[in-house]
Amino acid sequence: MNVLVVGGAGYIGSHCVRQLQAAGHHPVVLDNLVYGHRAAVADDVTFYQEDLGNRPAVTKILTEEKIDIVMHFAAFINVGESVHAPLKYYANNVGNTIQLFLAMTDAGVNKFVFSSTCATYGVPDTLPLVEDLPQSPINPYGSTKLHVEHILQDLARSGAISSAVFRYFNASGAADDGSIGEDHTPETHLIPLAIDAATGKRGALKIFGVNYPTPDGTCLRDYIHVDDISRAHIAVFDQLEEPNKFIHYNLGTGKPTSVREILDAVEKVTGLPVPAEEAPRRAGDPPSLYADNTKARTELGWEPQHMDIESTIATAWKWHQSHPDGFADPKD
Ligand SMILES: NC(=O)c1ccc[n+]([C@@H]2O[C@H](COP(=O)([O-])OP(=O)(O)OC[C@H]3O[C@@H](n4cnc5c(N)ncnc54)[C@H](O)[C@@H]3O)[C@@H](O)[C@H]2O)c1
Repeated sequence: MNVLVVGGAGYIGSHCVRQLQAAGHHPVVLDNLVYGHRAAVADDVTFYQEDLGNRPAVTKILTEEKIDIVMHFAAFINVGESVHAPLKYYANNVGNTIQLFLAMTDAGVNKFVFSSTCATYGVPDTLPLVEDLPQSPINPYGSTKLHVEHILQDLARSGAISSAVFRYFNASGAADDGSIGEDHTPETHLIPLAIDAATGKRGALKIFGVNYPTPDGTCLRDYIHVDDISRAHIAVFDQLEEPNKFIHYNLGTGKPTSVREILDAVEKVTGLPVPAEEAPRRAGDPPSLYADNTKARTELGWEPQHMDIESTIATAWKWHQSHPDGFADPKD
């Protein structure tokens, strides 16, 4: 399949590009590099530095590259920033995504895979999270993703676009060979922050909340390896052959891991202490979020291969050791 990977120079998109190549597909990357890294995309992959909101340009790319499926990873992802600058998030994550849908209809492309998030569920009443629980996001970032899910439902009903929506839990780890990995600016994710604290690149790691109703008092999350996320995106292709399709899957391991367990695992994998300090809870952090992944496993035949958090952290550590300054783009 010819696949346009929108946001393919970002963390998850770049790993997906590699998995697409390994599976014999033909990825083409579109990214405006506002947060992505040109070096995250191999030289043998066609790369367009373009904004997804540029409808004529995207239509041209879709047509000329004979694209069969669009995968959409491009978004602003910083939850805290979305609270202070909601319009920035609605404009890019929803407004530009609508331009992408318009370009797809202009070019006659009708298959779509979307990066959504467990943040669309808000604070759940029951755990583990199953796909049909009510979605009630508690921040603008989560709301933007839910808006796009609703648009996709309407587009499926109308027959314009068939789509698969993946609600990721905490994307983690790096390519097994350490060649690409996570390099966000600013970084807000626990594992790279803990590794940076261990190597002295940052000060002590803040543990936000130590009195939650969890076994060790710190928040429980579900850390899913980025390559496992990518494999699910490819496993869903057959489902998109049907018209009027709208399907959605949780992508998590199903295993809750606490903040303290992550720090212990980082210490074990790196052999370095992780300096940490206790801090008050952050507003809007649910105590526990972890997936019921039965639907993806049964319907897609997908199994996460990195079930052990230490194996996921080991891939992140390999990346950090070989790329202490990340991709070190000229703009960084
Ligand atoms: N990282 C996680 O743990 C996580 C969890 C749940 C959902 N997600 C979703 O997965 C997707 C990918 O996340 P990520 O961690 O790889 O983020 P990322 O910031 O590394 O990648 C996003 C990419 O999109 C590009 N981009 C943004 N706006 C663009 C635009 N207007 N035009 C063209 N390119 C644009 C950026 O340059 C970047 O390369 C996002 O949609 C995010 O909401 C991520």
